[in-house]
Amino acid sequence: KEAKLWGGRFEESVTPAVEKFGQSVSYDWKLYKHDLMGSRAHANMLAKQGIISEEERDAIVKGLDEIEKRIESGKFDWRADREDVHMNVEAALIDLVGEPAKKLHTARSRNDQVVTDVRLWCRDAINVTVELIILLQVALVKLGLRNEGLIVPGYTHLQRAQPLLLQHVLLAFVEQLERDIGRLRDCQERLNFSPLGSCALAGTGLPIDRFHTAHSLGFTAPLRNSVDAVSDRDFLIELLSANSIIAIHLSRLAEDWVLWASEEFGFLTPSDKVSTGSSIMPQKKNPDPMELVRGKSGRVIGNLTTLLMVCKGLPMAYNRDLQEDKEPLFDSMETIQTVLEVTAEFAQNVTYNKERIARSLPAGYLDATTLADYLVYKGIPFRTGHEIVGKAVACGVSKKVELAQLSLDEFKSIHPVFEEDVYSYLGVENCIKKFRSFGSTGAEPVSQQMHFWCEKLGIA
Ligand code: ARG
Repeated sequence: KEAKLWGGRFEESVTPAVEKFGQSVSYDWKLYKHDLMGSRAHANMLAKQGIISEEERDAIVKGLDEIEKRIESGKFDWRADREDVHMNVEAALIDLVGEPAKKLHTARSRNDQVVTDVRLWCRDAINVTVELIILLQVALVKLGLRNEGLIVPGYTHLQRAQPLLLQHVLLAFVEQLERDIGRLRDCQERLNFSPLGSCALAGTGLPIDRFHTAHSLGFTAPLRNSVDAVSDRDFLIELLSANSIIAIHLSRLAEDWVLWASEEFGFLTPSDKVSTGSSIMPQKKNPDPMELVRGKSGRVIGNLTTLLMVCKGLPMAYNRDLQEDKEPLFDSMETIQTVLEVTAEFAQNVTYNKERIARSLPAGYLDATTLADYLVYKGIPFRTGHEIVGKAVACGVSKKVELAQLSLDEFKSIHPVFEEDVYSYLGVENCIKKFRSFGSTGAEPVSQQMHFWCEKLGIA
């Protein structure tokens, strides 16, 4: 049995169950690239400060490069008895280059090392996620472009409310995704500070230069307080919160699509490429990917909850509990990335059923609110107009007709102010023409929004 790197004071070895229980290399190996980056930066700084010699530094860096090659060609022997990624790399380095490697851990602890790795990992993972969000935004805008002018029913309480341009609805999701990017970028900026050199918790008496390692790793600066640096995972809680919000946005988009793909709505048909069937019911074609997007939001939120619970009530400073941060982090990032990717593919593979949607539009008095606005133009207080239109709707309901099918006499019998021009406010096409407030669903405001996003996203 190999001696542990921390084994000096121990006389007995840990039981197999404890060893297996405590290992994290089965998942934290994913940090290897960032662990190696951190070690190179640390070795360079140690040499610059005269703590190790240039020759020792060169041997260490060469060894780290070799380890990276072995990992990437699948030839690295990840060993559970070496616990985690950090000690796997350090022990392998000692095997490889001998004595100089034993100096790498000078003025460093796994406590500052692990959180340095995780911050670097998050910084990169956020860039990937942001790219995927942008691709989804592009897919949604293009879906809008393919359906220019398409009017759909808008709902509140899932009851018919007012007509909307489909582009307007799609751009609502694009806006939400833009704020999601903002949250990720904020988080990225806040986490980009270096814990390296905080050591176990107290810093060190050795003459290290934390500013040097911080800057060489692309951090804004070293964290000011070593106890803070090794003890907190607030940046992960923030990141997993941002992911949870993304997941909720996507879950709602998915729910709309699932609903609209139903026989009852029939507004949308996903292509075969993004649908799956039933093992028993031969006729089925289900929008499973979107159900999974909806379902995975629970998982992403679960990861956040796990991390919150892990961090709650920990005494200062580092505690091994914090090793439990990695699986929720990796799972959250990987899940959100696949969800973004699949949602974009879905957007590229759906068709809106224009006829079916058009046939549905006369139902539900989508133009009632526009009719109330008409009465405002006629000098009637809105609250009174609301009452009058309510009467018109009741009349329509009892006669089983739309508002546009009521005769002028019928309108006049409800209120004398109605005139022939009332018909230019009725029917969804007319309604859409009337909307003109900033950010509204009118043809002009929506085309301004589309223009803004096409420009921003570089869509020709
Ligand atoms: N694998 C550990 C983690 O993820 C590294 C730090 C361990 N430190 C320690 N003193 N046991 O947190």
